[in-house]
Amino acid sequence: MKSNKIILFFILISTVFVSCVKQSENNSQNNNIEIKVNDLLSKMTLEEKVGQMTQLNLDVISNGEIYKLDEPHQLNKKKLIKAIVDYKVGSILNCGGHSYSREHWHEIINQIQKISKTKTRLGIPILYGIDAIHGANYTIGSTLFPQQLAQAATWNPELIEKITSITAYEVRASGIPWNFSPVLDLGRQPLWSRFFETYGEDVYLAKKMTASAIKGYQGNDVSSKNKVAACMKHFLGYSFSLSGKDRTPAWIPERELRQYFLPTFKTAIDEGAKTVMINSGEINGIPVHANYDILTKLLRDELKFKGVVVTDWEDIIKLYKIHKVASSLKEAVKISVLAGIDLSMVPNDYEFSDLLIQLVKEKQIPESRINESVKRILTLKFELGLFENSTALIKDYPDFGSEKFQKISYEAASESITLLKNTNNILPLSKNKSVLVCGPSANSLNILNGAWTHTWQGIDTNFNTKNKATILKSIINKIGQSKVTYFEGVTLDAEINIQQTVAEAKNKDVIVVCLGELPCTEKPGDIEDLTLPIAQLNLVKALAKTGKPIILVIVENRPRIINEIENLAQSILMSYLPGDEGGKAISDILFGDVNPSGKLPFTYPRYTGSLIPYDHKFSEKLDKNFTENGYNPQYPFGYGLSFSNFIYSDLSLSSQTISPVDTLIVKVKVKNTSNLSGKEVIQLYISDTYASITPSVKKLIAFDKQFIEKGKEITVVFKITKDDLTFVDKNNSSIYEEGDFEIYISNLTNKFILKK
Ligand code: GLC
Repeated sequence: MKSNKIILFFILISTVFVSCVKQSENNSQNNNIEIKVNDLLSKMTLEEKVGQMTQLNLDVISNGEIYKLDEPHQLNKKKLIKAIVDYKVGSILNCGGHSYSREHWHEIINQIQKISKTKTRLGIPILYGIDAIHGANYTIGSTLFPQQLAQAATWNPELIEKITSITAYEVRASGIPWNFSPVLDLGRQPLWSRFFETYGEDVYLAKKMTASAIKGYQGNDVSSKNKVAACMKHFLGYSFSLSGKDRTPAWIPERELRQYFLPTFKTAIDEGAKTVMINSGEINGIPVHANYDILTKLLRDELKFKGVVVTDWEDIIKLYKIHKVASSLKEAVKISVLAGIDLSMVPNDYEFSDLLIQLVKEKQIPESRINESVKRILTLKFELGLFENSTALIKDYPDFGSEKFQKISYEAASESITLLKNTNNILPLSKNKSVLVCGPSANSLNILNGAWTHTWQGIDTNFNTKNKATILKSIINKIGQSKVTYFEGVTLDAEINIQQTVAEAKNKDVIVVCLGELPCTEKPGDIEDLTLPIAQLNLVKALAKTGKPIILVIVENRPRIINEIENLAQSILMSYLPGDEGGKAISDILFGDVNPSGKLPFTYPRYTGSLIPYDHKFSEKLDKNFTENGYNPQYPFGYGLSFSNFIYSDLSLSSQTISPVDTLIVKVKVKNTSNLSGKEVIQLYISDTYASITPSVKKLIAFDKQFIEKGKEITVVFKITKDDLTFVDKNNSSIYEEGDFEIYISNLTNKFILKK
């Protein structure tokens, strides 16, 4: 016994020693970088400093016209010299309109870094940034994962860390050290074109996903050749415009901003996110790019963010041309830099540089403000190891696009797809069934991937990953061509051959209708109506008349309204945007080779006029008849069926009363009563019975995804502290209040009192 204690003591001592060494190593590394940065800064001219604050689009240094480059893509030596040598530009972003091979990326990055290293006075490496939001989506042959919303539907943070870690590896494999990801905007406006880019509507779920994403992208050391600098975006409140249209005004009071839209960014900062991209829109009449209170007082002074603040696309220009809070571009540059911008994604001209130099020379902006930004940018370049090595070698990334990476993508797609309906357990289908496959998303890899896939909007088929199966191809691979007939029936928004499709349906056992949405993002993705296009609704209505069982497979960017056809389907699979492996994952669920475990990360609305989230207020429960049916979604947040059957019991609390220093232990039993093992997401919600701010009817504060063997029962334990019970009060402070709380897990409830 004594020896055990001695061993334990030595383990403890050595652990403490190692972590102290690690910490001191980090500190000395940071001090070392700070010395180098200050030394370099002291040598820089104003022009060189302003160049470091300038980020150009790749088009500007390429052959051809901006947005219409010559093919095949080539850098233009003269333009390259003008940018890097004459204007001393320090950052470049994006691809020239579409994906490139890894070899071409290396050619581009090597040329750029060589010019910067050998032709400029100080040889400061270029910081290259790219959007790699569901894998290295601008590198041909990369592993393409489900989009973020689908990732959130897995409720599996460990899987998100794997996804972002592989993405970091493949972005670095392309020679690029900075990824404009993750999107941390909350998906609380289903009309928004970028809803699929979010982690859904709930703060807690999105925070868990955020922490995993930053860890996966950055690891413990962003100078690693397998890690990248993450970019939390778009700070903040970008996803909640009044109109649901991209980059239109948002009215978000500070209390709501702090309650819903700030927490994911705070989590990312706490996890060490290196950079942040700013919301292109305006909040309460002030464009965020012009808002000193947000960019400096909140982000820097309160949240202690030390990293680089980069604008979004042309957002300084937009202060003048769109938002009209600046009467000239020069004034726009002044406002945004003084508000707190470090790096301007200009991205297509040199006016920002010229004007910023003028503003400093005219003493309208102190050079000390410039120095702050340049220090942050140089610090990031040192942290990324760019001064030591600013390029990558193909040989260093043998796992690029490998089977093992594709397997993770398949796992994520399989765990995200959400079974919303399964009348009479029609799924899984027998492999002997004859199947009519139809609908616009049945035979499209582009619809499975969505925007930001080889091209910005994701609709070009030329760069798709080779040999990836669509839903149709996957079903044929599984049950054989002879049992499958395919008719598209309708495109995404127009009828083609509904009658022929209906005629064929009559000869089949079951109909799989694959509905969908055109890949799109940002302004091109704005819609006038959340309802699924009428042509798709008509196809389902016509097929229903055959009396054959209908399985709806929905592949969409956002929850399009389906109330006209929901009752016509025996089964409904919500597939979100499942990525390159989505076709196989969907087919494997249809025929039972995968037991679905996805849960909705958002409320699926029933009507276009009822877009309230699950954590709505009690007043939103009241309907026009004054009964409590005001919240009547098509499917609720957190919902998803399994082929297994899970029964919850014995929800117990360690105490019915806790003080603010206590930890409440919550236990619940979950039994898999079926003969099929499966995964279940145990979700713990609370509701604050009364509070000084109207409480939500319920709020997710914990979840745990567990694999439960057939016939087995597990006990899940949660620990609740006062921190889980806080909310933002009328003074914009995070507080907790004494009082009664309800706890909900599945169909069970319990209650406790918080008492100071
Ligand atoms: C776009 C997007 C942003 C992206 C950036 C660079 O406008 O808003 O998410 O990272 O430009 O492509």
